[in-house]
Amino acid sequence: MGWGGVGLSVPRHVACVMDGNGRWARQRSLPRTAGHQAAEAAVIDVIEAAYTAGVRWLSLYAFSTENWRRPGDEVDFIMRLVRRTLRKHAPSLYARGIRCRFLGVNDPRIPPSLARDVTDLMELTGGNRRMTLTVAFDHGGRRDIVEAARSLIRAGVPADQVTEESFAGHLPYPDTPDVDLVIRTSGEQRISNFMLWQVAYAEWIFPRVLWPDFRAEHFWECLDAYRRRERRFGDVLTPTTTGNGAP
Ligand code: IPE
Ligand code: IPE
Ligand code: MG
Repeated sequence: MGWGGVGLSVPRHVACVMDGNGRWARQRSLPRTAGHQAAEAAVIDVIEAAYTAGVRWLSLYAFSTENWRRPGDEVDFIMRLVRRTLRKHAPSLYARGIRCRFLGVNDPRIPPSLARDVTDLMELTGGNRRMTLTVAFDHGGRRDIVEAARSLIRAGVPADQVTEESFAGHLPYPDTPDVDLVIRTSGEQRISNFMLWQVAYAEWIFPRVLWPDFRAEHFWECLDAYRRRERRFGDVLTPTTTGNGAP
């Protein structure tokens, strides 16, 4: 059977750029923070949908290195909201066998209480293997690449031994597979500095729905659309490589 076979067409790694919270609030004449608050339900629905579909790696973009430019009260609200959400859902994430990881969380502006909860959740769920949930929080794709370059130099790796593989080994969580599918809600069509190295060959889907309204059924639609894509990885298709499976 070719790559389109049952099971193989479920993307191994799905990443979501959770965008549109502010517009969702504006449409309701509410403060932007109400949009962030409403995003929690979508996050929980999508984790459940991915888990049920058999997606093994799910990454969620929650806060970028550029989001520090936002007004202080909005940033403070997001910090408090993320902390509350983690504490509330930690037991069910653990019980479902979900391993939680965080990309970022190294800026001194992150409240120590949140940094502590993040560490606790990673420790609690570190032995789980059913699904890995990576929360990109205070994340920047370029920063990760610069940090990897620094790490290679510090390790004294000679220039002629720097390969794509050895370089990727210095990125955070080098065991993370490349992203197969990126879903960016709200109709915006840009990367916004998200996992730049890992999305090199990802398929992209841009649903118009705003993130707080995104639910399991939207996620299923994205998986269906992904199934119909042809991934070529620069090659030409042969009868055994029809469909969308990663090599
Ligand atoms: C995404 O929603 C959440 C974060 C970036 C933290 P936005 O807050 O960017 O919502 P819009 O784009 O203004 O609608
Ligand atoms: C990207 O969304 C970051 C997250 C969704 C967390 P933004 O709303 O910050 O991105 P831009 O400013 O539209 O590029
Ligand atoms: Mg936005």
